[in-house]
Order: sequence, then C-alpha cells, then structure tokens
Amino acid sequence: MLKTTPIAKSSSLVDKVTHLASLVGNTPVRTLRVNDQKSIYLKEEGQNPAGSIKDRPALNMMLRAIEAGLVTPDTVVAESTSGNTGIGMAWVCSELGLEYHNYSPMTLSERKQSILRGYGAKLFFSDGGTDEATKLLKSRIDANPGMYFWASQFTNENNWKAHLENTAPELMRQVPDADEVWVAFGSGGTSTGFAHALHNTGIDLRVVQNTLERAKRVEGMRNLAWISKPPIADLDAIGPENMYDTDPEPLIELARWVYENNDGFLLGTTTAAIMTQAIKSEAPNLVVVSPDNGDRYPDWQATVTG
Ligand SMILES: Cc1ncc(COP(=O)(O)O)c(C=O)c1O
Repeated sequence: MLKTTPIAKSSSLVDKVTHLASLVGNTPVRTLRVNDQKSIYLKEEGQNPAGSIKDRPALNMMLRAIEAGLVTPDTVVAESTSGNTGIGMAWVCSELGLEYHNYSPMTLSERKQSILRGYGAKLFFSDGGTDEATKLLKSRIDANPGMYFWASQFTNENNWKAHLENTAPELMRQVPDADEVWVAFGSGGTSTGFAHALHNTGIDLRVVQNTLERAKRVEGMRNLAWISKPPIADLDAIGPENMYDTDPEPLIELARWVYENNDGFLLGTTTAAIMTQAIKSEAPNLVVVSPDNGDRYPDWQATVTG
C-alpha cells in the first residue's frame, strides 16, 4: 500500500528549527560597574542572534508548534507585537523559510520596522495600541481558517517555558553564587519562567514593570495597573511583593554613568529601567537579565551618549 507522508513535507522544518536552537542562548555574563560602590552581573541577552531575549520564546514557540504539526512550510506565521518578539519571530521565520506577518500599532519605531523588514517580515498596522493590533490579526485569522499560526506570546505557555528550560538554568550555571536575579515585565514570560526555575534555590527573583508615569514609560515594558494580567503571567509564583515600578528619575543619568565608566557600554532602555531599582538592593551578588542593547533605540542612544 502506498504510504502517505504528510509529515515529510515539514520534517526539514524540524531539522532547521533544531539547528536554530543551537544558535540561540548561551549569552555571556559581564561584570558592570553601576556606581562608585557597586558592580553587578549583567546577562547580555542582546547577544542573541536577532538581538534580544525574545529570540528564546520566539524559537521555543515555533519549535513546539512545528513538533505539534501546527506549522508546515505553507503556514503563515503571525504575531501582534510592538517589540522584540516580532523581531525574534521574523528572524526564526526567515531562517525557516516561512512567511511572517507582524501586526503592530503605527507607533512601531522606524528602527524596529527596518529590522523587521530586513528579516523579510510583512508589516500590518492598526490604529490604537497592541490590543487593536491583536483584534486586527484575529479578524484576519477568522476570515482565513487554517492559513495562520498565531504565536500569541501572552497566552502561549512555550513563551515562559523558554526561560524555565533555558535562560534560568544557563544563568545559574554561569553565576552559581547569585543572590538576586532582576528581570523586566512585559508578557510575564521571563518573570514567570524564572519564578518557577528559582523556586527553592535560595536565589531571589525581583521583577521591574514599567513606570506609572505614562509620559516617561519605557518601550516594551508593561505595568499591571494599566493592563489586565497577561494570561501566562503567574503572579503567585512571582510574588507581588517582588514587583517594583521603574523609577524614571535616575534612568538617563544611570545609563550615562554606566556608559562613561564601562568603556562605552550602552544599556538598553529596559535594562536601565530594571537597574533604577536593582541599584537600591544591598544583595552582594546581583544579576540583571538585560533584554537587549541600547543600539536598538537611536533616540535613546543619542541622549545617553550625546
Ligand atoms: C525590551 C524588552 N524588555 C523586556 C520585555 C519583557 O519581557 P517578558 O515579555 O518576558 O515579560 C520585553 C517584552 O515585552 C521587551 O521587548
């Protein structure tokens, strides 16, 4: 009997995504002076192939979807995002030869638009914010059943599991004497993954969300006061007492000091936002998980280095 091989068509996707997994992660940890008295460890997630920590969940969401048969070579992959997740998805999809559609508000920065286009993404814009971009994407999915795989970082468990299975164990191997690990809050993926990984290790998790001062808010971060809890964010595991708001006051000065005293190292905006609270900690061995680098934000770069 002739054997049909529906999986064969996508089996090369499995090979390709497995290869990509060997390229993501294993990011370096550097020691950074943050003021006259204090140095911290910085896990440089900006060293991932497409430049941010989001390469990890993007890869893991795709890997698991391919394994589950949800993505074949004809699938259009889509996500609604105004940030690094889209860039991570665009990179993974371009490496896999898949079409990627990025839905975002019109406020998506020029820099991120050009990186996305560089990876071959098709860009779709909505009025309003990310919620409106998500609604637009949902309407396209409803109108074209079977055409899309929607990564959906806010509801996809393989977002936070990327950090549980990879980022956190990697960091614990690199800094075995860490006392505290500081991360940012967006979808809740990093914080939830770390919360589960650090449970019962004696290492404390600290999570920094956006400032409540909307005019001073930092791109890519969120604050639970303005949004409903992302479905994947496990606040019980994180512990509400471990959540801090970004302090906008020292943000630029802090980044300038770091730049001038660390051979021109330019913090990303989110990393600087995490540090506005982390520098107040007295823990001797403190690690900041730095989601990306400052060169992704040209206006910020000019402000800090100018
Ligand atoms: C620059 C940057 N930092 C931090 C985060 C937050 O990470 P997470 O979505 O894992 O909570 C994001 C994403 O929202 C981001 O783009």
